[in-house]
Amino acid sequence: MKTKVRSAFVCRECGADTPKWAGQCPACGVWNTLAEQKEAPAARPPRRLTSFSSIVESLAAPAPETVDRRTTGIGEFDRILGGGLWPGSLVLLGGAPGIGKSTLMLQAADRLARPDFPVLYVSGEESPAQVKGRAARLGLRNGALFLISETDLTKILEVAEAVKPRAIVVDSVQTVHKPDLGGAPGSVAQIRECAAELLHLAKGRGIGVFLLGHVTKEGDLAGPRVLEHMVDTVLYFETERQDVYRVLRAVKNRFGQTNEIGVFEMTGRGLAEVANPSALFLGAHEDPPPAGSAVLAAMEGTRPLLVEVQALVSRTLFGMPRRQMSGVDYNRTILLIAVLDKRCGFHLDSQDVYVNATGGLDMREPAADLAVAAAVAGAFLDRPIPAGTLWLGEVGLGGELRPVPQTAERLAEAAKLGFTRAIVPRARGGRERESPAGLDVRAAGTLAEALALAGFPQTA
Ligand code: TYD
Ligand code: MG
Repeated sequence: MKTKVRSAFVCRECGADTPKWAGQCPACGVWNTLAEQKEAPAARPPRRLTSFSSIVESLAAPAPETVDRRTTGIGEFDRILGGGLWPGSLVLLGGAPGIGKSTLMLQAADRLARPDFPVLYVSGEESPAQVKGRAARLGLRNGALFLISETDLTKILEVAEAVKPRAIVVDSVQTVHKPDLGGAPGSVAQIRECAAELLHLAKGRGIGVFLLGHVTKEGDLAGPRVLEHMVDTVLYFETERQDVYRVLRAVKNRFGQTNEIGVFEMTGRGLAEVANPSALFLGAHEDPPPAGSAVLAAMEGTRPLLVEVQALVSRTLFGMPRRQMSGVDYNRTILLIAVLDKRCGFHLDSQDVYVNATGGLDMREPAADLAVAAAVAGAFLDRPIPAGTLWLGEVGLGGELRPVPQTAERLAEAAKLGFTRAIVPRARGGRERESPAGLDVRAAGTLAEALALAGFPQTA
C-alpha cells in the first residue's frame, strides 16, 4: 500500500496551518502568505511540552527546599530576573538589532559560568572567532564558558547532551531551525517549534535557557513576540540604539516582579550598570529650572525613579490646537488639559501643548498626573517651579487628587537625591504622612490647591 504524503499549508505571517491552499490566509487574512509544507507520512508522536511530574500534589504538602537562584553579580540584570536566574527557566531577551543583546548575554554568561556550572553560548549569527573577538574586547576568558556556532537545533541539542551545561544562550532564536520541519529559519512555525524543544530541555533538565531575539520597533509579529506566552520571563531593551543608555525591562516574569527595569550604559568595554538612574532621567538644569518642568517619582517595578516632565504651551496660530506627547500617556494628558481648563481656569483651548518625559522613559502610571498637570500649568503661566520640588498624585476628573501607591518609597528616593519639597495628595482619613528627613511634604486635596502650593496664581 502506498503511504500518502500529507501536505499542509502554513502561513508565514501568523503560523496557522490549513489543509488547502488559498490566496488569503483563513486565520489572519493576509494575502499570499501560505507556503506548502510536506509532512512525513508517519505522524509525529505528540510532543510533551514540559516534563512536569505527573504526581498530584496537595497544596498543604511541604514545599520543596528553597530553589537556588544563580546570580550573575551584574546587579541590574539579576534584579530584573527577580534576584538571579531560576533553574530551568526560559528567558526571552529581545531588542532592536545592535542594541547590545549579544554583549549583555556574553557578559552575563561569563559571570554565570563556573567549573560546576558550565554555560553553552550558541551563536547562529557569528563565527566562534567573532564571539571570541567580542569576548576579548570585554576582557573575558572563562574556561567554563563554551562557544558553538550552529543553527541546526538537532545538533545544538546533541552538543548540549555532551557539554551538559547548566545554562544555554541561544543567539538568536531567529537563526536556529529544525531542518525536518521545513520553512525558513525565523518563520513563525520554526521559531515556535525550536522554542518548544528548548523549553522541554529547560524544564526537563533544569537548564536555564536564554533566547535572544530581534524585535523591531514596529513590533514584528513574526518575531520573538510569538514566544511571549511560552517563556517564563520576557525582557526587552526599550531604548534606541543611538541612546548611550540602555533600559532593559521585564515585561513578564513568572519568577519576579514585572516592569522591573535595569539601566545600562554602552561603554568601550561592554554594558556597564548605571548606579544612579534617577540622576539620568532628570534633566540637568540651573536653578531655577525653565518654566514647564516638573519632577515626579515613577515606580519602575520595585524601584522608584525620578523623572522630569517637560511641557511647552504656545498659542495656536490657526485651526485646531495641537497636542503632542512623548513618554507620557496621550489620553490621560488630554484629560488633564481638560481638567486644568475646567477646574483651574487655565484656558488651553487656543494653545498648542507639547509634553515630553526626559530620558526616553515611558511613563504610563496615573501617579504621573500631578507632575504632568504642573508642567503644563507652569508652561502656560511661564513660571518656573522651584528646583527640588517633587509632584506626586493622580488627578480625578473633578480636579480632586488621589493618593498613589508606594508613596513612602517615592518620597525616600526624592529625599536621597536632595529634593526639599514634595506636593502630594492629602492622605485618606486625615492621617499624617511621615516625611523623610530634609523633605517638606505638603498635602493638597485638589489640583488647584496643589498648584497654589507652588505659588501659581489662580486664574479661575
Ligand atoms: P551587539 O551586542 O552585537 O548587539 P545585538 O546583539 O543586540 O545586535 O552590539 C551592540 C553594539 O555595541 C555594537 O554596535 C557594538 C557596540 N559595542 C560597544 O560599544 N562596546 C562593546 O564593548 C561591545 C562589545 C559592543
Ligand atoms: Mg547579536
